[in-house]
Amino acid sequence: LSERIQAPRGTFDVLGEAALARKSLEDTSRGILERAGYTRIETPTFESTALFARGVGESTDVVQKEMYSFDDGGGDSITLRPEGTAPVTRAYLEHGMHKLPQPVKLWYLGPFFRRERPQHGRYRQFAQVGAEAIGSDDPAVDAESILLLAEILEAIGTTGLRLRLSSLGTPDTRAAYRDELQAYLRQHEDQLSRDVRERIDLNPLRAFDADHPGTQRVMASAPLLLDRLNAEDAEHFATVKQLLDAADLVYEVDPTLVRGLDYYTRTVFEFTSDALGAQSGVGGGGRYDGLIEEIGGQHTPGMGWAAGVERILLSSPEQPTAPPPVELYVAYANPEHRTEAFRLAADARRAGHAARLELGGRSLKGQLKQADRTGARYVAILGDEGTALKDMETGEQREVETSTVMHHIGRGL
Ligand code: HAM
Repeated sequence: LSERIQAPRGTFDVLGEAALARKSLEDTSRGILERAGYTRIETPTFESTALFARGVGESTDVVQKEMYSFDDGGGDSITLRPEGTAPVTRAYLEHGMHKLPQPVKLWYLGPFFRRERPQHGRYRQFAQVGAEAIGSDDPAVDAESILLLAEILEAIGTTGLRLRLSSLGTPDTRAAYRDELQAYLRQHEDQLSRDVRERIDLNPLRAFDADHPGTQRVMASAPLLLDRLNAEDAEHFATVKQLLDAADLVYEVDPTLVRGLDYYTRTVFEFTSDALGAQSGVGGGGRYDGLIEEIGGQHTPGMGWAAGVERILLSSPEQPTAPPPVELYVAYANPEHRTEAFRLAADARRAGHAARLELGGRSLKGQLKQADRTGARYVAILGDEGTALKDMETGEQREVETSTVMHHIGRGL
């Protein structure tokens, strides 16, 4: 026996009930997003590596450690997409969508790839549902976008949800704030944990997440980016909050909210669920007003989010999902009737009925048992003496012409 090959680490197969649950999540998302004017976009699963290096940011974990990048054999570096925003903005530019009425609203659902350490809720191939609204910096775009994700999660029944919200302002504000925070941390260096001390240059914001009591005391009076926003950004954020209040959406302003991707400006947000373990992020996003320039376009504002399909399902109660009911099961005992049975099942399906043909070589008794297991409403039994049609709900059985079976499925015996 040769060694069995298994699915790669951090990947999984989607089977049976899980496939139905994913389908139902997709239908719910589509309904909510399309009612709000979003249209579906599909982009390739691989793109030029440069798109993510420039779009997502060279210094992010995603770009530095997690991308599946390879030479495609022709000397071009290709990357399996780790996220969807850079590809969607690339498509916006490539198809001249700035000529359409703005904002252009696009939604997607598909596979994404990150070479992370697999654990509960964290995979190397996962699915995201996402929505991007490109071409307007109106704060109502931000509020509407966040509200739509909230509605999807609510419709699916995601539990233990918390919504955190903040604003990052402009890259300039952020750079000045970073200098200020670094100076503050250096002033209090002797009270900080070693870990935080060593990262003052690299990632001063990490200090806000520290468990170390001394560090926490220092951080309690640390300057906050939210207090440094310029007047325009502060007003933009105030309007986003006011609109979310008007929609009765509950959120917490968290001035220490950081996102793992570089393109964010102004609004950022994240939904977490305490039904998940360490990987508690269900979905998140924000505004990316500088991204399109970064990838070679004119200045064009954008706002959007993505949510992990597996994480939504892990933090939602299992939905009663059922495959479509079987209307007709075609059984036969004598192989001579196989062609007739085959034709009947095919005709029934062509007429729009859910029909199954016996394919397992079972005895007639086994076939009837199998028909019962599939929950079939009617069983047609093709025999030497003609065709019998049985209504499994009432137990009634009648001899019928094979050609009238379809008529009976529609109207009863
Ligand atoms: P992100 O926060 O990196 O944002 O990912 C969004 C969601 O994808 C996460 O909240 C999580 O549910 C899911 N996710 C991420 N990595 C994994 C993984 N390894 N395994 C399972 N699920 C995962 C983005 O990707 C941005 N493109 C969102 C966005 C859209 N911002 C603006 N527009």
